[in-house]
Amino acid sequence: MELVPGQVAVVTGAAGGIGLAMAERFAAEGLRVVLADVEQPALDKAVGSLRERGAQAVGQVTDVSERDSVEALADAAYSAFGAVHVLCNNAGVGSGAEGRMWEHEPNDWKWAFAVNVWGVFHGIQAFVPRIGRAARVTWSTPPLRTAASPRCPPRRCTR
Ligand SMILES: NC(=O)c1ccc[n+]([C@@H]2O[C@H](COP(=O)([O-])OP(=O)(O)OC[C@H]3O[C@@H](n4cnc5c(N)ncnc54)[C@H](O)[C@@H]3O)[C@@H](O)[C@H]2O)c1
Repeated sequence: MELVPGQVAVVTGAAGGIGLAMAERFAAEGLRVVLADVEQPALDKAVGSLRERGAQAVGQVTDVSERDSVEALADAAYSAFGAVHVLCNNAGVGSGAEGRMWEHEPNDWKWAFAVNVWGVFHGIQAFVPRIGRAARVTWSTPPLRTAASPRCPPRRCTR
C-alpha cells in the first residue's frame, strides 16, 4: 500500500495494540489520522501521545458494532480532514478464545459477531461509498480476510 504524506487514515480499535501501532506508523509516514475506539480514556491518551509527537490526529469514540456509531465516525473523519484514503477495520474482541462451541454463552457469540464481523461491514458500508474506487480497506479478523472481496455478496460471505 503506497502511502502519501497528507493522506488520511482511519483506524478502528486504535486506542491500543495493533490499531495504535498502525496509527503511529501512519502518523510517522506523514498521514493525518483518525483514531476510533470504544474506550474513551485510552483513546484520549493515544491521540494525545500522537499529537505530542507532531501528528495531526483526532479521536472519535466509536462502537463498531453499532452502525450509527460508525456512520458518525465517517462524518467526524470527513468533517476533520475533508477526505479519507485508508480505512483499517481493526477493532476486535477476543470473546470465546478458548473452549468448545457449546460452552460459550449466546451473548458471547453475539458480541464476537457484532464487533468482529458486523463491525467490519459497518466500516465498509459507511466509508467505501464516500471514498470511492480508490478506497484502501483492511480488516484484522481472519474469517472476513479470507472470504471477502469488493464483489463479495452476502451469500458468498456467509456460505
Ligand atoms: N493480536 C493478535 O495476535 C491477532 C491475531 C489475529 C487477528 N487479530 C485481530 O487484530 C485486531 C487487533 O488485535 P489486538 O491484539 O491489537 O487487540 P487489542 O485487544 O489489543 O485491541 C483491540 C482494540 O479494539 C477496541 N475495541 C474493542 N471493541 C470495540 C468496539 N466495539 N468498537 C471499537 N473499538 C473496540 C479495544 O478497546 C482495543 O483498543 C483484532 O480485530 C484481532 O481480532 C489479532
